[in-house]
Amino acid sequence: MKSGLDHVIAADTVLSHVDGDKGELIIRGFYLAQLATHTVETVAETLWQGLAPAGSGALITQLGQARVLAFEQVQPILTLAAGRPIMTGLAMGLATLQATPKLPDHVLASGAMAVLLAGLCRQNQGLEPLPPDPTLSQVQDVLRMRDGTLPPAYLVQALTTYLITVSEHGMNASTFAARVIASTQSDLFSALLGALGALKGPLHGGAPGPVLDMLDAMGSVAQIPLWIEHELSQGHRLMGFGHRIYRVRDPRADVLKQAVQSLHRHCPQARIALAEAVEAEALNQLARHKPERRLDTNVEFYTALLLEALGFERSAFTAVFALGRVMGWCAHYYEQQQHGRLMRPQSVYVGPQPVGL
Ligand code: ACO
Repeated sequence: MKSGLDHVIAADTVLSHVDGDKGELIIRGFYLAQLATHTVETVAETLWQGLAPAGSGALITQLGQARVLAFEQVQPILTLAAGRPIMTGLAMGLATLQATPKLPDHVLASGAMAVLLAGLCRQNQGLEPLPPDPTLSQVQDVLRMRDGTLPPAYLVQALTTYLITVSEHGMNASTFAARVIASTQSDLFSALLGALGALKGPLHGGAPGPVLDMLDAMGSVAQIPLWIEHELSQGHRLMGFGHRIYRVRDPRADVLKQAVQSLHRHCPQARIALAEAVEAEALNQLARHKPERRLDTNVEFYTALLLEALGFERSAFTAVFALGRVMGWCAHYYEQQQHGRLMRPQSVYVGPQPVGL
């Protein structure tokens, strides 16, 4: 068996199917493009239906209550987390969440992620965190809590598209981590903390910041070929390219590219043109560099441009990803608890044998 568990099936799931050869993603019976036109609340309901305990009232209202309750709980943490990386602050906030009989845990955790993300972004700009407005949708409120004003519809639409696009994606590393923790019958917040730790790594959800660093380092279209050639000759990986499952273009890349183009007011044409030129040259050189391994554009490449255009600082990118993926993590947590057993694989001992007594 390969050390990365390639091709190992770890669970049956009703949540999503990733077809790496066709470049298709099905989420609970819908193609990604069909879901991407809905609201975050509808997609969360679709993922959680029949798995997670239902609270009372519409989900949009429950999430509003969750943000209010979470803000009360995590306010001291926001102060304590000032000056630390946003992912650290998010983990500190999640670790201190306390279950309440007023709301199911997954709703409280999802509301808390919105409050923490917005509050931590504000603090990084030297501003006080703002309390939530429970009458707004989750996406409207996270942008309002970050900026202090009601967001325009096109920003709400672009962030909604992003969060839905990354909401669920099979047995990726962070979801697997969440399911291992769920399989021990630990609590949901602990499973989310484990998932967050896995997401942070640059081979998973930590790639979009470095994608922008890469664009900055190239600077202009003329520099692209030499820069990429140099990176590959040093054995470095190009961020935003390659995927364990997809052997073709990641279908999420196209959905996000369209969303970036819809934000042209915030993403200058020159930035998009530079990214397109980098993508084309990277694909060319990767095909020559690894002819036996198809390496194509993954979700993180256009994520980087989109989150930049949405006004998030680089250090917040992985936390925004987590705000979307928390929907999938929660669904997997409950699915594992209902249908799974303790995950306890074995290892092959290759160490020294004891000699004598
Ligand atoms: N740039 C250059 N070479 C690459 C890249 C890349 N982006 N991706 C893979 N390779 C090379 C590897 O170095 C390896 O070469 P080797 O056989 O000489 O060692 C070969 O292709 C096969 O790579 P694997 O490590 O087997 O591929 P794996 O399936 O484990 O990796 C991964 C998938 C981690 C995403 C990888 O493609 C990568 O590191 N990409 C860059 C980081 C990135 O974009 N991460 C985000 C992924 S999407 C997500 O998680 C949400």
